[in-house]
Amino acid sequence: MTGQRNDPHDTTDETRTGGPALTRKQLLRAALVAAPLPILLAGVPALARDGAAGEDLEPTPMCDDGDDETPPQMEGPYFKPNSPQRTAIAAGLPGTRLTVSGYVFGTSCQPIAGALLDFWQADNAGAYDNVGYRLRGHQYTNGQGAFSLTTIVPGLYPGRTRHLHVKVQAPGRPILTTQLYFPGEPRNSTDSLYDPRLLMTVRSAGGGREATFDVVLDVPGVPPTTPPTTPPTTPPSTPPSTPGGTWAAGQSYAAGAQVTYGGVAYRCLQGHTAQPGWEPPNVPALWQRL
Ligand SMILES: [Fe+2]
Repeated sequence: MTGQRNDPHDTTDETRTGGPALTRKQLLRAALVAAPLPILLAGVPALARDGAAGEDLEPTPMCDDGDDETPPQMEGPYFKPNSPQRTAIAAGLPGTRLTVSGYVFGTSCQPIAGALLDFWQADNAGAYDNVGYRLRGHQYTNGQGAFSLTTIVPGLYPGRTRHLHVKVQAPGRPILTTQLYFPGEPRNSTDSLYDPRLLMTVRSAGGGREATFDVVLDVPGVPPTTPPTTPPTTPPSTPPSTPGGTWAAGQSYAAGAQVTYGGVAYRCLQGHTAQPGWEPPNVPALWQRL
């Protein structure tokens, strides 16, 4: 399962444990909120976390509460590359305020830091901005694997139920393209693309909506204590001491910027701040080899 807290998988889990027990992910999510990641996860296997919370011990640390990978969905005709890096994408636009927050996990329930999320959606009237970047933006998960988007509830357009689009990519991994849905929408039952596994949990708050969804990516076996702090490939042959010339973590790059990495030239496709693990050869969505 990928985000909705009250899904059939969770029900099964509760049944098995004989009560309204939290799922493994709910426990991890609560713990992530309560404690800094290094303290929480340093050297502590998932088994210990679950056991401490009173759940049955499992033979492996894999997610077993139905936390399958988030299923992909079609990109649709309205994606545009090079969205701005920002977490608020609806400033000044009319509509019902909406926040979408959650975590990006790997298949071992490990939070993934530095994961890219690129959102795009229709406006209050159901229209996409195909000229500019209204209601489009990308961001990266923080050190705890968390993200938060501030936007408006998307409007409806013919043939579709209410939805958000998002691309999610862990450092150096393939891109997941999918869509997120709203519970209680009449058109959910008639939209052939609708998938209940992609339902957000949504509640009303302060005249707006607060939604949560956790993305699970096909990233196996990444130790939770090892965010992408070291390059997975050969470091550059020249030290990153040539500003603007050689790729360096921490540098901000605009679309069109050119750098070298490992003696190879790359052009930036999408403005972003470079992070360890996002070396140009690893993120073709951000860098084009020249
Ligand atoms: Fe759409």
